[in-house]
Amino acid sequence: MIEIIKVNRENHWQQYFQVAREIYRGDPLWTPLPENSQRLMFNRQANPVLKHVVCELFLAINDKGPVGRIAAITDDFLPDKKVGFFGCFETINSQEIASALLDAAAKSLKSRGKKQIQGPVTLNTSQQVGLLVEGFKFPPQMMMPYNPPYYQKLLETAGFEKLLDLYAYPWKPDYTRNRKTLTAIAKRASRIPGVRVRPINLNDPMGEGNRLAEIHNKAMTEQWGFVPLTQEEAAHYLREMRSYADPDLLTFCEVDHQPVGVCLIMPDVGHELRASRMSPFSMLHNIFGPKSLRVGVLAVIPEYRRKGVVALLIDRAIDIALRKGYNRGEMSLIMDSNEQMNRIITSKVVGKAHKVFRIYHKPNLQIGKN
Ligand SMILES: CC(C)(COP(=O)(O)OP(=O)(O)OC[C@H]1O[C@@H](n2cnc3c(N)ncnc32)[C@H](O)[C@@H]1OP(=O)(O)O)[C@@H](O)C(=O)NCCC(=O)NCCS
Repeated sequence: MIEIIKVNRENHWQQYFQVAREIYRGDPLWTPLPENSQRLMFNRQANPVLKHVVCELFLAINDKGPVGRIAAITDDFLPDKKVGFFGCFETINSQEIASALLDAAAKSLKSRGKKQIQGPVTLNTSQQVGLLVEGFKFPPQMMMPYNPPYYQKLLETAGFEKLLDLYAYPWKPDYTRNRKTLTAIAKRASRIPGVRVRPINLNDPMGEGNRLAEIHNKAMTEQWGFVPLTQEEAAHYLREMRSYADPDLLTFCEVDHQPVGVCLIMPDVGHELRASRMSPFSMLHNIFGPKSLRVGVLAVIPEYRRKGVVALLIDRAIDIALRKGYNRGEMSLIMDSNEQMNRIITSKVVGKAHKVFRIYHKPNLQIGKN
């Protein structure tokens, strides 16, 4: 017998974490954030996103204990008021449990007036999105989705359909087809009157957060699931980065001191998180082996597009990454419909995505299968 319960008591949190620990037991690639950091994500005082995001968590319990979990999420900032999300989805390989969890999320969203369900999205579309459907052999970068391959079948059997795909491309800073052309475009852009590229000052999270939010809110509006970023959220994001980011790889492009573009490249500390669970050899390889990066955000406001601003940002970043010994990484996530970015990457950087993440949906929010 399966029981679905709402997470609202202290001991439920233990069960919430236990679900994932059991599912990924023995999986060397699983890279969870520390449990206390995950708890803070749901804490209103700690996470400013919860000012407009409402999240209800459910657990599936059977006679063996907790075997699945899901979140039903609504975001007041989402322009499409019909849509709610499911997230934090983990389950053992059982259709009965997966369907019961997805039904619980659908019911919760329906009671909040939603007509469509999309996901996985944790906790909103500016955070962790997509189900890994290709590229299981590659380690996940920090904060990127990772899941067992059987989730895809469970969702599809439950009546969920593909809404869109998001790609992750491998990135080698020392390999750019025609680097000379990139540098030439960057040089041309450096002649835009009043232009400069500078590192983001992580000691001024509110000021820099304001600039980051301004660029995001102008540049990302065409992206699926766009929600405006508040200054407080952007500041929170920058504060969190203080503990692991390399400030030289977080840059703004400004024209006359006004922000026009941003490039956020983060060192992948996932290997350090994994190292604690590894054999001594893999641990040493992970700590002292090749250093990895993730190009997480590249954005230019519409008025400054097609002027080479992105080339200016990325050309500088490649030089810094090489100087600092980063020699591999990932560019993610790029939506399948983002023709410009996919064209730039596949023609100038690397031929093919190495991971695909899928967003699923049920256009009509009925409970159970279609
Ligand atoms: C995608 C985006 C950042 C491009 O910015 P842009 O400044 O208009 O880019 P440009 O067209 O001026 O590109 C300049 C040149 O640099 C090249 N270039 C860009 N990045 C490169 C890279 N990593 N390696 C090699 N060449 C690169 C481009 O190919 C282009 O040359 P081309 O015209 O010969 O193809 C911008 O349109 C945007 O902000 N879009 C919305 C946000 C988004 O989609 N971000 C990506 C996903 S996070």
